[in-house]
Amino acid sequence: VVTAGGTQEPLDPVRHLTNRSSGKMGYALAEAARDRGAKVTLVTAPTALLEPVGVEVVNVHTAQEMLDVVKKAVNRTHALIMAAAVADYRPVKISENKIKKVMPTLTLELEKTPDILGTVKGDFVRVGFAAESQNLIENARRKLRQKQLDLIVANDITVTDSGFGADTDRVVIIDREGKVEKLPLLPKREVADKVLDRVVRLLTKT
Ligand code: C5P
Repeated sequence: VVTAGGTQEPLDPVRHLTNRSSGKMGYALAEAARDRGAKVTLVTAPTALLEPVGVEVVNVHTAQEMLDVVKKAVNRTHALIMAAAVADYRPVKISENKIKKVMPTLTLELEKTPDILGTVKGDFVRVGFAAESQNLIENARRKLRQKQLDLIVANDITVTDSGFGADTDRVVIIDREGKVEKLPLLPKREVADKVLDRVVRLLTKT
């Protein structure tokens, strides 16, 4: 099970809060896993990418929808790879009607979304992603511990050749033992294969 894209959290019938995730990393992972013979379910928030063939694609918008679909999809899975940029907060209230431009300022009240990786646990390998703009390794290690992940793939979003929207990524992969594997700048498809190599190693160990 692979997730991709940036979730969209509605404000009113015409607006939502989202982020700059292109979905490219998640789609590359889904395609790379498919090419290795895996049966892949890609749970994706909206992207501008073409649906990969040979993969079951489930389209979602919000973090809550992604959680509901992922919960069901992991029933018979060997691995969950959460490459999606899930919104951390969503509007407390979704306005039934379009919010009108009447006040000089507008304050939105936001609440935390459910943490999918923090919630969906089971007998499968769990891989998270961490997009950071500071203290990359320290923050990624904390997320790995908090979410009890097997692996975390961390990238520094302050460099332009890596991360959101780019076709390439310079990532570090950190495992449960805290070991750090620094990868060079690579096309996302090659990063996907490196991540899958690690997943396969974990699966064969167990
Ligand atoms: O805590 P942070 O959002 O930086 O963690 C990133 C990882 O956690 C990603 O793998 C992302 O897909 C996942 N995540 C999640 N549910 C959330 C927020 C993030 O599963 N609500």
